[in-house]
Amino acid sequence: MVKRFVLQWHLSETCNLKCLHCYQEKHKPIQLPYDKLVKIYKQYKELLKSLKMKGHINITGGEPLCNPYFFKILDLIKEDHDLITFSVLTNGTLITKEIAKKIKSYDPYYVQVSLEGGRKTNDYIRGKGTYKKIAEGIKNLRKQDIFTSLSFTATKLNYQEFPKVVKYARRYGVNNVWSDRYIPLGDSEDKDLALNLEQTREYLAIMNKERNKLKNIKNNHTTISMYRALQFQMTNDFAYGCTAGDTLLTVMENGDLVPCRRMPIVVGNLFDKNMLDLYKNNKILKELRKKKIPDDCLDCEHAEMCHGGLKCLTYALYKGLNHKDIGCDIH
Ligand SMILES: C[S@@+](CC[C@H](N)C(=O)[O-])C[C@H]1O[C@@H](n2cnc3c(N)ncnc32)[C@H](O)[C@@H]1O
Ligand code: SF4
Ligand code: SF4
Repeated sequence: MVKRFVLQWHLSETCNLKCLHCYQEKHKPIQLPYDKLVKIYKQYKELLKSLKMKGHINITGGEPLCNPYFFKILDLIKEDHDLITFSVLTNGTLITKEIAKKIKSYDPYYVQVSLEGGRKTNDYIRGKGTYKKIAEGIKNLRKQDIFTSLSFTATKLNYQEFPKVVKYARRYGVNNVWSDRYIPLGDSEDKDLALNLEQTREYLAIMNKERNKLKNIKNNHTTISMYRALQFQMTNDFAYGCTAGDTLLTVMENGDLVPCRRMPIVVGNLFDKNMLDLYKNNKILKELRKKKIPDDCLDCEHAEMCHGGLKCLTYALYKGLNHKDIGCDIH
C-alpha cells in the first residue's frame, strides 16, 4: 500500500454493546446530520489535495453499523475510489449475510472485528452471547471473501488469552490478528485494567510465541501482525512509530479533531475551523510532527523509530509525553 494519510472517523458514539474497557462511554450519544458528515468528508479531501496524498478512512464509532448514514458515507467514498480506500472497524455482532454482501460491494480494504479472549472472558468484557455473534459476523464476512482482521485489546484481565483468540481466528478463517494494549481513558479509567511492565513483557512474549507457532503450520492462512509499539522488541522487525498528528488524524462524533482517539487532545472543532488549517497551524499537531524523543530514551538505539513507544498510553498515564513507555525494559 502506498503511504496514505489516514482518517479515523468516529461516525457516532451509538453502540449496541457496552464493553467493560471501552473509552467511548463517557459522552452522550451524538448523531451529526448527514450534511455535517459530508462537510467533514469534504475537508478531508481538501487536506489530501493540499498534501498531494492519497487517503484511507477507518470508519468506526461507537458501532458504525448503528449509524443510519453508514452506507451513504460508503457511497461518498465510492465516488472517490481512486483517491480514498476504507476499512470498517466493527464489533461484528450486526454483520448479517446481507450486510456483509453490501459492504463487499463497496470493496473495503479490510473489516476489523474485535474479540477479547475465550468465550467466558470475551462475554464478560463485551457482553453475554457476543462470542457466538462475533463468529457469525466473521463467517459472513469471510463468505464474501472480505479480508478480515481480529483486534484484541490486552488488559490485565485477558492478556494471557491471546492464544485463544488466535485459535478462534484460525477456526473461522480470519486473515490477520493484531493486538495492542488497553489505554485507561473515559469511564474505564478507574477500572485498573492497564498492563504493568511485567505483564507487558509476558504479553509480548505470548504474542511472539503464537506468531512463531503459526509459521510452522502448513496450509495456515492466518497471520499475526506485530507492528504496534514495542512489539518489534520480540520480532526484530522494524520499530513502530506513532503517526498521530502527522499522517493520522481522528474526527470524533461531534466534529472535534484529535490527533488520535487514544490521545484525546481536542485541537479544534471542524464546524468552527477547517481541517487543513488545523493540520498546518495547530501547535500540538506541529509539536507531534517533531517526534521528540523522551529524555529516558535518548540513549536507546531504537529511539529514532520508536520515539518512546505507545505515546497515547504514556499520555494517559502521565498527562505528558516526555516519558518512556511503561512496558519497555530497556535501560
Ligand atoms: C472503540 S471500538 C469501535 C469499533 C467497534 N465498536 C469495536 O468494538 O470494534 C474500536 C477498538 O477500540 C478498542 N478499545 C475500546 N476501548 C479501548 C481502550 N480503552 N483502550 C484501547 N482500546 C480500546 C476496542 O476494543 C475496539 O477493538
Ligand atoms: S468497544 Fe466497540 S462495541 Fe464495545 S462499547 Fe466500545 S464502541 Fe461499542
Ligand atoms: S527505550 Fe524508549 S525508544 Fe527505546 S525501545 Fe524503549 S520505549 Fe522505545
